[in-house]
Amino acid sequence: MRIGLLGLGTMGSQFATVFLEHGYYVIGVEPDENQRQRAEAQIRQGLRTLGNSDNECTEKMKGFFVTRKIQALAEAEFILEAVPEDLSLKREVMRTVSHINPNAILSSNTSAFSMKEVFTLAHNRERTIGTHWFNPPHLVPGVEVIAGPDTSEETLCRTCQLLKEVSKIPVQVADYPGFVVNRIQMAMVQEAIRCVEEGIVPAEQLDLLVRATLGFRLVEFGPLTVADWAGLDVYENIFNYLTEKLGKRFECPRLLKEEVDQGRFGVKSGAGFFQYAEDFASLLATRDQALNKQRQVWEGDGCRS
Ligand SMILES: NC(=O)c1ccc[n+]([C@@H]2O[C@H](COP(=O)([O-])OP(=O)(O)OC[C@H]3O[C@@H](n4cnc5c(N)ncnc54)[C@H](O)[C@@H]3O)[C@@H](O)[C@H]2O)c1
Repeated sequence: MRIGLLGLGTMGSQFATVFLEHGYYVIGVEPDENQRQRAEAQIRQGLRTLGNSDNECTEKMKGFFVTRKIQALAEAEFILEAVPEDLSLKREVMRTVSHINPNAILSSNTSAFSMKEVFTLAHNRERTIGTHWFNPPHLVPGVEVIAGPDTSEETLCRTCQLLKEVSKIPVQVADYPGFVVNRIQMAMVQEAIRCVEEGIVPAEQLDLLVRATLGFRLVEFGPLTVADWAGLDVYENIFNYLTEKLGKRFECPRLLKEEVDQGRFGVKSGAGFFQYAEDFASLLATRDQALNKQRQVWEGDGCRS
């Protein structure tokens, strides 16, 4: 299968790494000559990071073809755009490529624009889909997959299949601005910046603190599981206090209130956002085992500084 990449900057160059590593032929389109050269070095470095020797990198790079001409994408079967986050540029690029190649699946790596907006000018919109990867994409496993209003079931299935083939974890989300991860990430970063701005903690200490607390747990458990362990009634009280002191941005979500009103407090009551069929002692043992792995990583690798 031939993969077409539009834009070989931060994300596009490492998309090439991902697909070359898995034996795909990659056609990259990049208008900037300096970036075309830089991309080759970035791809090679990515392949080395993935454990390839110099000879293996050279061998895998033979599957890479780079040009400034978008017409080269006429041969590709899956085309992924990683041009700058500019809606009119993405629309135009998608319109052009959809006419050059009406048979390929066209995917956008937009960080936040909804698919409805990105693909308005594209031809064959049933073949369009969002795949939102995370930097550095050759190392981060998760990819948000966003079906637009016209995306066909076949496009969705083939895209998820391709992502699995390159060892990614596709997770389908609805077509909302910012999707899921950037909503969470932006809310967290916004609050982190405010904490520094208000003089509560210096930037270095904030980063250390978040890594050693939230980051430590999030490697093993998602935020809703963490909430279930803390107790949803406890979270409701925290939300209420913070709303009173810091404002409406901390308002308790309706769904959390409903859980608490129905006596679903999380692990301690046997149900919260998730159901807990096992007895409390076994759940505790499983949780501790998972977090103990992380403790050993922290103590062993000196992540403390
Ligand atoms: N950088 C990140 O951490 C990250 C993470 C997830 C998603 N994204 C999204 O990925 C997209 C690309 O981001 P990036 O950080 O790689 O940007 P970048 O600026 O590093 O790279 C964009 C590349 O596109 C090229 N380009 C410009 N116009 C083009 C055109 N018409 N055809 C082909 N190439 C063209 C540029 O020359 C540049 O090399 C954006 O939509 C961004 O929001 C970025």
